[in-house]
Amino acid sequence: MLPKKFTVRSCNIFIVKILIFFVFVFGILWLFISDQFLTTKFRKSRTHSRDSQSEGQIAAVQYWIQKVFEIKKNTSILDIQNNNVKYNVFQDRKSTDIDCVKILNQNSEEIEKAKTRLYRHGQPDYQKLLSFGCNHFKSERGYITNSLTFEEEYFPIAYSIVVFKDEAQVERLLRAIYRPQNFYCIHIDIKSSNSFHKIIRNISSCFDNVFISSRSVSPVWGQFSILEPDLICMDDLWKYKKWKYFINLTGQEYPLRTNYELVKILKVYDGANDAEGIIKRANKERWQNVEPAPHGITPIKGSLHITANRAFVDYVLHNETAQVFLNWTKKTQIPDETFFSSLNHNPQLNIPGSYKGEPETDSVIKPFLTRFVNWESTPFGWKCYGKRVRSVCIFGVEDIPLLLSRPEFFTNKFYIDYQPVALDCIEEFHYNRTRDQYEQDWTFNTTYYENLPFLKNVVKINKI
Ligand SMILES: *[C@@H]1O[C@H](CO)[C@@H](O)[C@H](O)[C@H]1NC(C)=O
Ligand SMILES: *[C@@H]1O[C@H](CO)[C@@H](O)[C@H](O)[C@H]1NC(C)=O
Ligand SMILES: *[C@@H]1O[C@H](CO)[C@@H](O)[C@H](O)[C@H]1NC(C)=O
Ligand SMILES: *[C@@H]1O[C@H](CO)[C@@H](O)[C@H](O)[C@H]1NC(C)=O
Ligand SMILES: *[C@@H]1O[C@H](CO)[C@@H](O)[C@H](O)[C@H]1NC(C)=O
Ligand SMILES: *[C@@H]1O[C@H](CO)[C@@H](O)[C@H](O)[C@H]1NC(C)=O
Ligand SMILES: *[C@@H]1O[C@H](CO)[C@@H](O)[C@H](O)[C@H]1NC(C)=O
Repeated sequence: MLPKKFTVRSCNIFIVKILIFFVFVFGILWLFISDQFLTTKFRKSRTHSRDSQSEGQIAAVQYWIQKVFEIKKNTSILDIQNNNVKYNVFQDRKSTDIDCVKILNQNSEEIEKAKTRLYRHGQPDYQKLLSFGCNHFKSERGYITNSLTFEEEYFPIAYSIVVFKDEAQVERLLRAIYRPQNFYCIHIDIKSSNSFHKIIRNISSCFDNVFISSRSVSPVWGQFSILEPDLICMDDLWKYKKWKYFINLTGQEYPLRTNYELVKILKVYDGANDAEGIIKRANKERWQNVEPAPHGITPIKGSLHITANRAFVDYVLHNETAQVFLNWTKKTQIPDETFFSSLNHNPQLNIPGSYKGEPETDSVIKPFLTRFVNWESTPFGWKCYGKRVRSVCIFGVEDIPLLLSRPEFFTNKFYIDYQPVALDCIEEFHYNRTRDQYEQDWTFNTTYYENLPFLKNVVKINKI
């Protein structure tokens, strides 16, 4: 029924009222749907798209609606727990029959027992697992196919993983760092065996956000080719627009931090890169027989491992200065230890997140936290209970207490055929901590990272 005195004006008001009504109903529906969405916390559709902008936007809109209406007051683990939004696919996982807590407490009987355990012990049959399909593989292997917290979900990390052998070790590394919101580019050495290629490809095909690099090379230590896999992967990863930080790994490394901890730390970093700089102990002869570096860049030696923000990766891939400098490093020895460190320690280039102070890494002002490596010749004098190979400690079971006390992000290195319980236990501790942080609201203390002096002295970044 129309109002008695039907005029253009009252008609307008009528239409406006109807509109308001619909917006209201739609809003309620939306909240309901999105809450359901969060309650199950199973974004199946999300894990099936690599980088769908629109889905990301929908998720973001939902997130803000939740925030504004305080359905989720907090984005923390605690909050998810209070709202009973729980992901309960944490398996009771034991990586070994050895008691890792006893190992941590240096129980000599358990240590001796652990040392008798050999490589093939408990190794999964990947061919078989995969032959039953991807879902079977993921659930049997206990992959965490949920981003677990909003904080992690909205802070994706891109990884480049350079691998050449031991599929079991590579798979366990991937399993530890895998989350649906992150991106993983795996570079397989062209010289690797066929079966290795096949299994790694097969595994990666089970995940939308894990892929094999578009090109493969065979890196030779000390030559330019060792830089190439990472540059190829950086370029491949660049297509995915969401990630905020880039980390490169090799197949023989393992995380010391959970994904949650890493996100917390990188938020504290707020765009700063983490790279090593060595001046005093640098091998300057590497640069002596070539012309001076272009663009007034001072060459700096450092570790090959990096944690870099997205804008830095943009610079490496797309700025001509980086390309010209890369060409120059090709003429030097061991370019991989020069390229990245130099870009990060020449603040006149104004590269976002690079360091403005004295580029010498030390344990107080500018520790290098991307990787823990127990080198023979460090001033820290760590004992190696495993064995040294080219002065790097290959960890044994008795190295576990030291590893668990370190603040670094990842550690290098493990051999799966040398005291494999070392990796088994690190894996078990890592998995249990992921689970406990999620289920028992164990708040990660970032004070140490917040107080790192070098973070206050970096080239500012607009937005990470
Ligand atoms: C959010 O969670 C943190 C701990 O993760 C807590 O310190 C903070 O008080 C919480 N904020 C609100 C509004 O509940
Ligand atoms: C990890 O948790 C399991 C229980 O799920 C427990 O049996 C095991 O001892 C824990 N391992 C460590 C190293 O804490
Ligand atoms: C992995 O390989 C096996 C055998 O080669 C094949 O049966 C299976 O379908 C593959 N799985 C995937 C996910 O590609
Ligand atoms: C990580 O990436 C940087 C930058 O491309 C490169 O210099 C370094 O060699 C890479 N590290 C490893 C371990 O591949
Ligand atoms: C780098 O060197 C290659 C081959 O020597 C050359 O084609 C390319 O133009 C150089 N790039 C820059 C930016 O100088
Ligand atoms: C490339 O880097 C140089 C020096 O860091 C900077 O001056 C220049 O603006 C950059 N070029 C582009 C296109 O961003
Ligand atoms: C975090 O650790 C620092 C020392 O590193 C300590 O002083 C502080 O009390 C801790 N904060 C919490 C909330 O436990």
